[in-house]
Amino acid sequence: MADPGWLTSASRRRALVRLAGLMAGSPLAAALAQSDPRPLGGHHRVLSLAEMQTSFDFEPVFFGNVPAPIYDYTAHGDGSEFTLRRNRQAFDWVDIVPARAAVPASQVDLSSEFLGVAMKFPIVVAPTAAMVPLHPDGEIGMFKAASAASNTLMMLSINTSTPYAKVAPAVPGGTLWGQFYPLEKLDASQRSMDTYQNAGAGGIIVTVDQQASYYERTQQDRNLGGRVLGAGGGRGAGGGAAAPTGAARYRINGFRLWYSWDYIDAMRKMIKGKLVIKGILDPQDARLAIEHGADAIIVSNHGGRSMDYGPSTLEVLPEIVAAVNGRIPILFDSGVRRGADIFKALALGANAVMIGRTTRWGLAAFGAPGAQRLIEMLQQELVQVAAAAGYTKLSDIDKTAVKANFV
Ligand code: FNR
Repeated sequence: MADPGWLTSASRRRALVRLAGLMAGSPLAAALAQSDPRPLGGHHRVLSLAEMQTSFDFEPVFFGNVPAPIYDYTAHGDGSEFTLRRNRQAFDWVDIVPARAAVPASQVDLSSEFLGVAMKFPIVVAPTAAMVPLHPDGEIGMFKAASAASNTLMMLSINTSTPYAKVAPAVPGGTLWGQFYPLEKLDASQRSMDTYQNAGAGGIIVTVDQQASYYERTQQDRNLGGRVLGAGGGRGAGGGAAAPTGAARYRINGFRLWYSWDYIDAMRKMIKGKLVIKGILDPQDARLAIEHGADAIIVSNHGGRSMDYGPSTLEVLPEIVAAVNGRIPILFDSGVRRGADIFKALALGANAVMIGRTTRWGLAAFGAPGAQRLIEMLQQELVQVAAAAGYTKLSDIDKTAVKANFV
């Protein structure tokens, strides 16, 4: 829109400045401040999409865009958030070894194939719940963004705010897999599975962690606002308003505590396409996942949302890679924010890396274009790191590329 002139004219600005000066000294100022509760005093201009430099730039824009409970639901982790912090710290404990001569970024080709899906970059959008509250573009916007960013594979959460059958057709030719939490009744699981499979999902991710997580920080923030903790613990953006009873009073959440490998066997029979088991942190569980028919596993602690005081995923990755010994692909997530983080996980043996919160920052900050920019930024950062470290091919990036100070 053309500037109508009066918005920016010097005389108008002078008048406003004079008025502001008068107001500041006036007892009216306090009263007026209360008529406008937005705390703009200490703020500078909000950065635009074009000015985003790293994934971290998106986070404060997201924070500014949404109500506090929506922000909290994405930001926080289980308990005292030790694992949430450790996920990030672990990347600092891995050095990239400057053993090779740098190569031009234009020579770097990180394409690969993951269970039949062609990937230009080893990056996947992790399944995360309820995206419409983040931005009206929601899951459809995220899928468009992922697909526009070199056809990135996206995994849709079972707790999606837009059903799979509506999201999948939004991008013909895009690749959308479905994530699933087993339901105690097998026939209910079957129905849910069918909704994915009838709508064309080529792969199903069965998440086996987050047995009883509790987002303490989120709840504390809400309680400060006078809300009562619901029996549902940390589930969902909405939480619950009813006072807890029984074990829930002590934050014991029975949800998902019945999972077993027998159940995975039953699910394996229902799943026609690829079965990916998400939430593996232990080499023995990795071996069992293969025995029980997993086509791939995801080394994940749910971004620190599952069990506090568990290890960071980067620390356990090498032993799981050794246990799997190349039999199935290994995806990795939790704490990834930069291309260098992705490079380190690849070097320690992951076949591809999944991005959770960070994709939500992009979507919530600027809608689908923000999510696309964010994914492309990580792709390009990864290429830059690979080039600087002297790697042109994904399969060449192995543990000699890094020195892990915890192995
Ligand atoms: C998740 N995650 C998740 N995982 C899953 O299997 N099903 C789900 O519905 C959700 N929902 C969800 C919501 C929110 C707000 C977050 C942050 C995460 C976990 C997700 O798939 C992934 O494992 C983590 O997000 C990875 O950690 P980072 O990238 O967020 O640090």
